[in-house]
Amino acid sequence: MNKMTIRDLDVQGKKVLMRVDFNVPVKDGVVGDDTRITAALPSINHVLENGGSLILMSHCGRPKGKKNPEFTLKPAADRLAELVDAKVTLAPDVIGAEVKELVDELKAGEILVLENVRFYKEEEGKDCTPEEQNAFAKELASFGDVYVSDAFGTAHRAHASMAVVTKYIDQCSAGFLLEKEIEYLGKVLEAPEKPFVAIIGGAKISGKIDVVTKLMDTCDAILIGGGMAYTFFRAQGKSIGDSIVEDDKVELAGEILKQAREKGVKLVLPVDNIATDEFSAEANIKVVEGHFEDGWMGLDIGPKTIELFCAEVADAKTVVWNGPMGCFEMEPFAKGTYSICEAVANSNSVSIIGGGDSVAAVKQSGMADKMSHVSTGGGASLEFMEGKQLPGIVALTDR
Ligand code: 3PG
Repeated sequence: MNKMTIRDLDVQGKKVLMRVDFNVPVKDGVVGDDTRITAALPSINHVLENGGSLILMSHCGRPKGKKNPEFTLKPAADRLAELVDAKVTLAPDVIGAEVKELVDELKAGEILVLENVRFYKEEEGKDCTPEEQNAFAKELASFGDVYVSDAFGTAHRAHASMAVVTKYIDQCSAGFLLEKEIEYLGKVLEAPEKPFVAIIGGAKISGKIDVVTKLMDTCDAILIGGGMAYTFFRAQGKSIGDSIVEDDKVELAGEILKQAREKGVKLVLPVDNIATDEFSAEANIKVVEGHFEDGWMGLDIGPKTIELFCAEVADAKTVVWNGPMGCFEMEPFAKGTYSICEAVANSNSVSIIGGGDSVAAVKQSGMADKMSHVSTGGGASLEFMEGKQLPGIVALTDR
């Protein structure tokens, strides 16, 4: 990586302004999945152990520029306090005199968590002038001597705390998490060990078109599951009954199938499906090969497809997986996704899992530890794999 990393910084006696992604699920004021918080701990502990103090910035949810207590970072700060051996204080605001005072009083080894940066419209830069956004970023920058970004999940957003604050601090570096994400996802783009198999699922093809197209340059096989498969079926002229389809993407799906043929990439669609006559775990179920009758919808890949996909994965040396194979939240339609989990976990491949739902499935299966890398980025990991430059990475100081 050609960017400065946290190892290049001398943090002794310094105030370190760190952007983290604590956009975590919260229920009744308590954090659910704390993966994004624990993933930032190596950088946080590094600063504390090396004599620095920390000012942490993050967003949580989409409060759209308004101070809305529903989106407070308190649950995340409380969880962090349980995980670190340090004093953690939640600031009452993001900027302003009161926050500045807390920053000034901060001692080495202590953490101040700023409130949700998206409480200010200047964070996203919508409905404000560039000057207003610059002023907001400058005030944030004034809190730190150096800047670290460990917010890989937000690196695709050109927001003030990611890509504008960096104009006002000399040393802006990548934290350990950001570095690790770039290392694993970068390998996939640049030099994946072959055979390289990508498993792409989820309900919709839109949002994944660019990544599928990009992966065709390096992949040996792309396995398509989940709801998006039915848009491909429609492009092949198959009847799909009441299965989910994106009518406006059928032509594009046909184009992708054509491109794959031209490039000699194996694009593998399900050969059978678990179908139901109602969107419910209690409905009638049958296996459908080929055409669907009206009134039936596919909600998972079928047993022959599981075998086919698992055989591809077993031979792979690199696997990228983004998106579940079916409605795994409902037990009768979970087998496809969990079988893929198992196959990837048991393979000898470098395995990279991205995307909220597939990451959730991997965690629920208890096999997350068997994957080489479980990305903390949803949209960010997709955009990275599409080959896009992420603003939150570009903004860091070059070596
Ligand atoms: C995410 O959860 O993908 C990141 O935290 C970014 O959040 P956003 O999609 O609201 O920008």
